[in-house]
Amino acid sequence: MNRYAYPRLFAHRGGGSLAPENTLAGIRLAARLGYRGVEFDAMLSADGAPVLIHDERLERTTDGAGLVAQTPLAALRRLDAGARFHPAFAGESLPTLEQALAACAALNLTANVEIKPAEGADRVTGATVGRIVAATPAGAVLLSSFSEEALAAARAAAPDCPRAWLTDAPPPDWRQRLERLGCQGLHCAATQLAPGLAEELAGSGFAFACYTVNDPAAAAALFAAGAAAIFTDRLDRFDPAAAGLGRR
Ligand code: G3P
Ligand code: MG
Repeated sequence: MNRYAYPRLFAHRGGGSLAPENTLAGIRLAARLGYRGVEFDAMLSADGAPVLIHDERLERTTDGAGLVAQTPLAALRRLDAGARFHPAFAGESLPTLEQALAACAALNLTANVEIKPAEGADRVTGATVGRIVAATPAGAVLLSSFSEEALAAARAAAPDCPRAWLTDAPPPDWRQRLERLGCQGLHCAATQLAPGLAEELAGSGFAFACYTVNDPAAAAALFAAGAAAIFTDRLDRFDPAAAGLGRR
């Protein structure tokens, strides 16, 4: 198995806590701070277009209301996805997956596209995201999802794109699941790593990465235990030029 070359640090949801989540402003900020990897969430609109958003509902992060999966792309594109975070970001729109991938390519960022299916839309979300990323250059995109069905559909659409299975707490059969899904990596909650599991993962040939790690000392311990990468909301606490170690 080819081990995927992870950037050590991923800015979580675009720009972490420094910018509205899942926006181009966040992605640009991560790049300005020297990050080489960004993670964001992709969900389908009512008419099947992947957009960057975490929640199934619009209220928390935008000035809209209702379900993403019941809102057409044109209406999603009219929403403000910045002002709820801070008025300074008013006018920031909810990006399409294509826009986010183009921004990452222009900024030389690896994109971890987390496939985030709305309820019941696992297969179509995986297939649609896979079809869109299939055209991106090797290494530029890493797909991940909590949904095994979405990962299987993405694999069929983009067989050459590296994939990781997301799970808060890895179950005992994690290795069989990764093998079955043809995944290169496992992404799990840093707080859910049972004693000894990091070492087991590190020796398995599969990469592992942990979310959401905001403490540089905790990140250093994870790297020492063999983690390939961490996802952070606190972009200001890490120095991407120092291989993931905290700022002095
Ligand atoms: O991909 C890591 C992390 O983003 C998974 O959790 O809920 O922030 O999408 P969530
Ligand atoms: Mg995510």
